[in-house]
Amino acid sequence: MQTQKIIIAITGASGVIYGLRFIEILNQYPKVKSFVIISNAGKDVLNIEIPDWKDKLKNIKIYSENDLASPMASGSFLHDGMVIIPCSMASLAAIANGLAHNLIHRAADVCLKEGRKLILVPRETPLNLIHLKNMLNLKQAGATIIPPCPNFYTKPKDILDIVDQIVAKVLDQLGLNHHLITRWGE
Ligand SMILES: Cc1cc2nc3c(=O)[nH]c(=O)nc-3n(C[C@H](O)[C@H](O)[C@H](O)COP(=O)(O)O)c2cc1C
Repeated sequence: MQTQKIIIAITGASGVIYGLRFIEILNQYPKVKSFVIISNAGKDVLNIEIPDWKDKLKNIKIYSENDLASPMASGSFLHDGMVIIPCSMASLAAIANGLAHNLIHRAADVCLKEGRKLILVPRETPLNLIHLKNMLNLKQAGATIIPPCPNFYTKPKDILDIVDQIVAKVLDQLGLNHHLITRWGE
């Protein structure tokens, strides 16, 4: 099997733990290479929510949102999908409206134009009409929207169980096998 390349972006929404956990899990796949972009606001939220985040990502190259000359900005860079986790309403709006001013928005725009998998994990509540319309536009343009809505019938024990439910949904969408959760009926 060829190595899969996955782009992961963390933006400045609450719930950056989802992004960190997703990166940690992806790193356990020997045949997956991650390309990580963190927005400036994403770094601010990481500093607030997970102050030791740099230690957790110490062996990982992090691309800046300003790095528009990186491979992910080009349609010629072949990859197997992009995940924005968590995705702020600001980034969601930029992507839904074709604004490609930073690397995250540009890489997402490229996914849509090239017909590659684009998964967004949006975090905001309540949602206003603009948020909802932007999500509809993105869905119609080919993106997959995975709101971080956990279930409770599986009786999560702690925050990690809840986070893993969402990470599992993203892995399922990417076609990556995992044992993060017990599936209903198993
Ligand atoms: C602690 C903190 C939590 C935030 N949580 C959210 C959130 O859950 N959803 C959201 O859309 N914006 C949230 N914001 C606001 C975004 O960070 C802000 O809109 C920013 O411009 C997003 O930029 P980005 O999409 O380039 O990362 C939060 C900001 C801070 C400081």
